[in-house]
Amino acid sequence: MNLLNEEYLSTVWSRVTNILVDHGKGIYLYNTEGKRFMDFTSGIGVVNTGHCHPKVVEAIQKQSNELIFGQINIIYHKPVLSLIEELRSILPSALDRFFFSNSGAEAVEAAVKLAKQATGRSNIIVFQGGFHGRTHLTMAMTTSKTIYRSMYQPLVPGIFVSPYPYPYYYGWENRETLDFAVRELKRLLKTQTAPKETAAIIVEPVLGEGGYVVPPAGFLSAIRKICDEHGILMIVDEIQSGFGRTGKYFAFQHEEIVPDIITMAKGIASGLPLSGIAYRQELGEKWLTGSHGGTYGGNPIACAAAEATIRVIKEEKLLQNAGERGKQLLKALSGLKKEFSFIGDVRGIGLMAGVEFSGKGNEIAAAVQREALEKGLLLLTCGAESNIIRWIPPLIVTGDQMDEALNIFRKALERTINR
Ligand SMILES: Cc1ncc(COP(=O)(O)O)c(C=O)c1O
Repeated sequence: MNLLNEEYLSTVWSRVTNILVDHGKGIYLYNTEGKRFMDFTSGIGVVNTGHCHPKVVEAIQKQSNELIFGQINIIYHKPVLSLIEELRSILPSALDRFFFSNSGAEAVEAAVKLAKQATGRSNIIVFQGGFHGRTHLTMAMTTSKTIYRSMYQPLVPGIFVSPYPYPYYYGWENRETLDFAVRELKRLLKTQTAPKETAAIIVEPVLGEGGYVVPPAGFLSAIRKICDEHGILMIVDEIQSGFGRTGKYFAFQHEEIVPDIITMAKGIASGLPLSGIAYRQELGEKWLTGSHGGTYGGNPIACAAAEATIRVIKEEKLLQNAGERGKQLLKALSGLKKEFSFIGDVRGIGLMAGVEFSGKGNEIAAAVQREALEKGLLLLTCGAESNIIRWIPPLIVTGDQMDEALNIFRKALERTINR
């Protein structure tokens, strides 16, 4: 079947492929001609349980027979309350208040609005390369690529940017990079935004859109310490890294810290639009009732899908699988780095891994992506130069499927060299 009407779709969306999808099942997408693609994008980290997981489908079908919409200012409904129970079972007990919305950007907006009212302070610190969304506020917090803000400036004020510890970019060892990032963060608080004016520091525990960078161990703890010293709130943006992606429910759980607020979206509901924040109860007491909200937040079908998603992650031991498949992936990619000199860096944690190309890295990444697509493997790029291939398959991926994808990737690398 040919595409029809696609010219009427807004071209503001950038486009990765022209595949017309008929249906998805597990790690696969099928086009209208029956061709199968391995979806190693997970729809940018959304379908962690795979496409159309039967238990998620069942929950959606059941809920849509009972209540499609219940406006959360007006009534309570069961799915949102059951979802809270599931979320509390996977979060530290201190994070026990929840607000729900629809997109990741909205969750970030909520976190910032809460932080402002809870502290009475105006400013927010973000990190270089971060991606927090595309609304007017979150665009100002996003520094992963200039395209996200181009010709939209001037932006919302009160946002200050500190370096993210990105060892390969700086060309330093982990320790040196970490010390630098912490020093610069402290300097920002002395030179640009005083602690008494700083409401929150927001951080991606693994840098997503900005390059799939795993920060050196100790980075989150250092931020926690600075926040505690100055009464600044620590917001961890788990929108891409959450719901099992890194082998833990949330990536901050790799360090011994508890944030004040976390943002969640993407993997939370296997594809239904749902996002939210979890925060400490004492902050909630300062969030003025009626000062924030939204019509659709906490939609019953999306909440039922989220509850089913968390149960699938538990029952199918997807954290363990993400950890094991992640090790398999990283080992194989590290081997490829030794063979292919244009691979500059390989890094990752769980099923969130990046391959950064050197030299004309953006052209290489685009060529590899194209070659892989031709052989039925969907991959995404990321980073300011689009020179990084990110690996973000569904958490249900098997060892054999991973090997198959790695084989296609190797062939794509070979064909790229011989271009
Ligand atoms: C870390 C992070 N925060 C926020 C967002 C924004 O989410 P959304 O596109 O649902 O608004 C994204 C989306 O990629 C993200 O990766």
